[in-house]
Amino acid sequence: MSDDIILETRALTKEFKGFVAVSKVDLRVRRGTIHALIGPNGAGKTTCFNLLTKFLTPTSGQILFDGHDITPETPAHIARRGVIRSFQISSVFPHLSVLENVRVALQRQLPTSFHFWRSERSLQSLDGRALELLHEVDLESYAHLTAVELSYGRKRALEIATTLAMSPTLMLLDEPTQGMGLEDVDRIRQLIKKVAASRTVLMVEHNMSVVSSIADTITVLQRGATLAEGPYEQVSRNPAVIEAYMGSAQTELQGAH
Ligand SMILES: Nc1ncnc2c1ncn2[C@@H]1O[C@H](COP(=O)(O)OP(=O)(O)O)[C@@H](O)[C@H]1O
Ligand SMILES: [Mg+2]
Repeated sequence: MSDDIILETRALTKEFKGFVAVSKVDLRVRRGTIHALIGPNGAGKTTCFNLLTKFLTPTSGQILFDGHDITPETPAHIARRGVIRSFQISSVFPHLSVLENVRVALQRQLPTSFHFWRSERSLQSLDGRALELLHEVDLESYAHLTAVELSYGRKRALEIATTLAMSPTLMLLDEPTQGMGLEDVDRIRQLIKKVAASRTVLMVEHNMSVVSSIADTITVLQRGATLAEGPYEQVSRNPAVIEAYMGSAQTELQGAH
């Protein structure tokens, strides 16, 4: 496995009682890139994510991360390696402040013994790190607001901050702009681009203007299998992809930019 590839799947397959939801998928995610997984509803995108974090056990195939075969590992072990899925743990506590939410996520990272040593100073150093993360997602000025008071888009930005608190090397984002208005979509799009500067991002995303503007590589899944892979310009012209997206999504594919 070349150094350039941070995540690779080999013939990754998941069957549910004989129904093949993910079928011999060979993914290759290059380090430091944004890789989008797209495809019609039911194509197997979420199942793929669930396999990568071992939330589901593959029926067959292999998952390699950073040169290690992580297929037999537990979800906790995989998370410790830095494969972190956003929104995996329902991460936002609505009645805590924005800052407290990030602090809780940081505390989760610490060895358990540390939790009993909550001196003022240790809490303050967590606050410092939490503020840095809030700065990274442009929420610094909202630090003392209660999470419930945030707009939908900013709540998602907070979720990204709590994910960053877990020191991800590879961030998995499942439909990060789902249900958002244009302004929030644009904010999250820019935010993903920003956090990806020093990490790798694998995202499931339906919004083609987001995919076309930030994804380096796109994998198209259809009925569990890879239909096409490559940069947007190439994939969006692929006749098989256009056919898979017949109807409204086709217009969306061609209408992006
Ligand atoms: N736990 C499950 N048991 C049975 N079938 C499932 C399960 N999870 C997903 N599926 C099926 O697998 C297919 C892929 O689902 P999913 O990965 O959620 O698709 P996507 O995220 O691309 O919309 C769907 O047909 C879905 O009904
Ligand atoms: Mg899904």
